[in-house]
Amino acid sequence: MISRQEAYELVKGHVKEDYMVKHMLAVEAVMRMLARHFGEDEEKWGIAGLLHDLDYMEAKSNFSRHGYITVKMLEEKGLDIPDEVKKAIIAHVGHPNHKRRLLIEKAIYPSDPVTGFIVAAAKVMPDKKLASVDVPFLLKRFKERRFAKGANRKAMKACEDIGLSLEEFLGIALEAMKGISDELGL
Ligand SMILES: [Fe+2]
Repeated sequence: MISRQEAYELVKGHVKEDYMVKHMLAVEAVMRMLARHFGEDEEKWGIAGLLHDLDYMEAKSNFSRHGYITVKMLEEKGLDIPDEVKKAIIAHVGHPNHKRRLLIEKAIYPSDPVTGFIVAAAKVMPDKKLASVDVPFLLKRFKERRFAKGANRKAMKACEDIGLSLEEFLGIALEAMKGISDELGL
Protein backbone atom coordinates (compact mmCIF):
# COMPACT_ATOMS: atom_id res chain seq x y z
CA MET A 1 0.00 0.00 0.00
CA ILE A 2 1.04 3.57 -0.65
CA SER A 3 2.86 5.04 2.37
CA ARG A 4 1.48 7.95 4.33
CA GLN A 5 4.50 10.01 3.23
CA GLU A 6 3.89 9.24 -0.45
CA ALA A 7 0.21 10.10 -0.10
CA TYR A 8 1.02 13.36 1.66
CA GLU A 9 3.53 14.35 -1.03
CA LEU A 10 0.95 13.59 -3.69
CA VAL A 11 -1.54 15.88 -1.95
CA LYS A 12 1.02 18.67 -1.50
CA GLY A 13 2.06 18.42 -5.12
CA HIS A 14 -1.43 18.39 -6.55
CA VAL A 15 -3.65 20.47 -4.28
CA LYS A 16 -2.63 24.10 -4.44
CA GLU A 17 -5.04 25.60 -1.92
CA ASP A 18 -3.69 25.49 1.61
CA TYR A 19 -7.17 25.31 3.15
CA MET A 20 -7.89 22.19 1.10
CA VAL A 21 -4.68 20.48 2.24
CA LYS A 22 -5.68 21.28 5.82
CA HIS A 23 -9.16 19.91 5.19
CA MET A 24 -7.69 16.65 3.87
CA LEU A 25 -5.38 16.41 6.90
CA ALA A 26 -8.39 16.95 9.17
CA VAL A 27 -10.39 14.18 7.50
CA GLU A 28 -7.31 11.94 7.78
CA ALA A 29 -7.11 12.60 11.52
CA VAL A 30 -10.82 11.88 12.03
CA MET A 31 -10.60 8.68 9.99
CA ARG A 32 -7.56 7.50 11.96
CA MET A 33 -9.36 8.02 15.24
CA LEU A 34 -12.48 6.26 13.97
CA ALA A 35 -10.35 3.32 12.80
CA ARG A 36 -8.83 3.12 16.26
CA HIS A 37 -12.31 3.26 17.80
CA PHE A 38 -13.53 0.36 15.67
CA GLY A 39 -10.30 -1.66 15.76
CA GLU A 40 -9.86 -1.18 12.01
CA ASP A 41 -6.72 -0.49 9.95
CA GLU A 42 -5.67 3.00 10.98
CA GLU A 43 -3.21 3.42 8.12
CA LYS A 44 -5.75 2.44 5.48
CA TRP A 45 -8.49 4.63 6.90
CA GLY A 46 -6.07 7.53 7.27
CA ILE A 47 -4.89 7.27 3.65
CA ALA A 48 -8.53 7.33 2.47
CA GLY A 49 -9.10 10.52 4.44
CA LEU A 50 -5.90 12.13 3.28
CA LEU A 51 -6.52 11.44 -0.42
CA HIS A 52 -10.30 11.87 -0.52
CA ASP A 53 -10.40 15.29 -2.22
CA LEU A 54 -7.32 14.91 -4.43
CA ASP A 55 -9.41 15.70 -7.52
CA TYR A 56 -10.96 18.78 -5.94
CA MET A 57 -9.79 21.09 -8.74
CA GLU A 58 -10.67 18.74 -11.59
CA ALA A 59 -14.06 17.87 -10.11
CA LYS A 60 -15.10 21.49 -9.62
CA SER A 61 -16.57 21.62 -13.10
CA ASN A 62 -17.62 17.99 -13.12
CA PHE A 63 -19.03 17.13 -9.71
CA SER A 64 -20.65 13.89 -10.85
CA ARG A 65 -17.10 12.58 -11.44
CA HIS A 66 -15.78 13.73 -8.03
CA GLY A 67 -13.95 10.84 -6.39
CA TYR A 68 -13.90 8.78 -9.57
CA ILE A 69 -11.31 11.18 -11.00
CA THR A 70 -9.10 10.66 -7.93
CA VAL A 71 -9.30 6.88 -8.27
CA LYS A 72 -8.39 7.13 -11.95
CA MET A 73 -5.44 9.41 -11.16
CA LEU A 74 -4.15 7.01 -8.53
CA GLU A 75 -4.52 4.04 -10.86
CA GLU A 76 -2.77 5.84 -13.71
CA LYS A 77 0.15 6.56 -11.42
CA GLY A 78 0.34 2.83 -10.73
CA LEU A 79 0.08 3.39 -7.00
CA ASP A 80 -0.82 0.53 -4.70
CA ILE A 81 -4.17 1.63 -3.29
CA PRO A 82 -6.38 -0.95 -1.57
CA ASP A 83 -9.83 -1.43 -3.01
CA GLU A 84 -11.53 -0.32 0.22
CA VAL A 85 -9.65 2.97 0.04
CA LYS A 86 -10.81 3.57 -3.54
CA LYS A 87 -14.37 2.78 -2.53
CA ALA A 88 -14.15 5.15 0.43
CA ILE A 89 -12.84 7.97 -1.79
CA ILE A 90 -15.89 7.57 -4.03
CA ALA A 91 -18.25 7.05 -1.08
CA HIS A 92 -17.31 10.32 0.62
CA VAL A 93 -19.14 12.31 -2.06
CA GLY A 94 -22.51 10.67 -1.48
CA HIS A 95 -23.22 9.96 -5.14
CA PRO A 96 -26.81 8.67 -5.33
CA ASN A 97 -25.75 5.65 -7.40
CA HIS A 98 -22.95 4.58 -5.04
CA LYS A 99 -24.19 2.59 -2.10
CA ARG A 100 -22.01 2.77 1.01
CA ARG A 101 -21.53 -0.83 2.09
CA LEU A 102 -18.18 -1.05 3.93
CA LEU A 103 -17.58 0.45 7.36
CA ILE A 104 -14.81 2.63 5.91
CA GLU A 105 -17.27 4.01 3.32
CA LYS A 106 -19.89 4.74 5.95
CA ALA A 107 -17.27 6.37 8.17
CA ILE A 108 -15.78 8.77 5.63
CA TYR A 109 -19.19 10.13 4.58
CA PRO A 110 -19.94 12.04 7.82
CA SER A 111 -16.23 12.71 8.46
CA ASP A 112 -15.99 15.04 5.47
CA PRO A 113 -18.60 17.62 6.57
CA VAL A 114 -17.79 17.38 10.28
CA THR A 115 -14.30 18.82 9.79
CA GLY A 116 -15.60 22.04 8.20
CA PHE A 117 -18.21 22.28 10.91
CA ILE A 118 -15.56 22.02 13.66
CA VAL A 119 -13.27 24.53 11.91
CA ALA A 120 -16.20 26.98 11.82
CA ALA A 121 -16.78 26.42 15.54
CA ALA A 122 -13.11 27.15 16.34
CA LYS A 123 -13.23 30.34 14.31
CA VAL A 124 -16.06 31.84 16.36
CA MET A 125 -14.15 31.31 19.61
CA PRO A 126 -12.53 34.44 21.10
CA ASP A 127 -9.08 32.88 20.69
CA LYS A 128 -10.06 31.07 17.46
CA LYS A 129 -8.63 27.84 18.89
CA LEU A 130 -9.87 24.27 18.72
CA ALA A 131 -8.84 23.94 22.36
CA SER A 132 -11.75 26.23 23.28
CA VAL A 133 -14.36 24.12 21.49
CA ASP A 134 -16.28 21.43 23.34
CA VAL A 135 -18.99 18.94 22.40
CA PRO A 136 -21.94 20.81 24.05
CA PHE A 137 -21.01 23.87 22.01
CA LEU A 138 -20.94 21.79 18.82
CA LEU A 139 -24.30 20.19 19.59
CA LYS A 140 -25.87 23.60 20.13
CA ARG A 141 -24.45 25.00 16.88
CA PHE A 142 -25.49 21.87 15.01
CA LYS A 143 -29.14 22.86 15.45
CA GLU A 144 -28.55 26.35 14.08
CA ARG A 145 -29.05 25.99 10.39
CA ARG A 146 -27.26 29.22 9.54
CA PHE A 147 -24.12 28.25 11.43
CA ALA A 148 -21.59 26.67 9.03
CA LYS A 149 -24.45 26.15 6.63
CA GLY A 150 -22.15 24.45 4.11
CA ALA A 151 -21.68 21.56 6.55
CA ASN A 152 -24.36 19.06 5.51
CA ARG A 153 -26.20 18.14 8.71
CA LYS A 154 -27.84 15.10 7.16
CA ALA A 155 -24.45 13.72 6.08
CA MET A 156 -23.04 14.36 9.55
CA LYS A 157 -26.02 12.55 11.09
CA ALA A 158 -25.08 9.54 8.97
CA CYS A 159 -22.62 8.78 11.80
CA GLU A 160 -25.54 6.79 13.14
CA ASP A 161 -24.94 4.32 10.30
CA ILE A 162 -21.67 3.39 12.02
CA GLY A 163 -23.41 3.08 15.36
CA LEU A 164 -22.29 6.39 16.81
CA SER A 165 -24.59 9.02 18.24
CA LEU A 166 -23.99 12.54 16.99
CA GLU A 167 -22.54 13.40 20.40
CA GLU A 168 -20.09 10.50 20.30
CA PHE A 169 -19.11 11.25 16.73
CA LEU A 170 -18.52 14.94 17.41
CA GLY A 171 -16.41 13.97 20.42
CA ILE A 172 -14.21 11.66 18.37
CA ALA A 173 -13.85 14.16 15.50
CA LEU A 174 -13.05 17.04 17.83
CA GLU A 175 -10.44 15.03 19.73
CA ALA A 176 -8.86 13.95 16.43
CA MET A 177 -8.63 17.50 15.14
CA LYS A 178 -7.30 18.84 18.45
CA GLY A 179 -4.48 16.32 18.01
CA ILE A 180 -3.28 18.11 14.86
CA SER A 181 -4.24 21.66 15.83
CA ASP A 182 -0.78 23.00 14.98
CA GLU A 183 -0.97 21.61 11.45
CA LEU A 184 -4.45 23.04 11.09
CA GLY A 185 -3.32 26.39 12.47
CA LEU A 186 -6.24 26.38 14.93
FE1 LIG B 1 -13.67 16.75 1.61
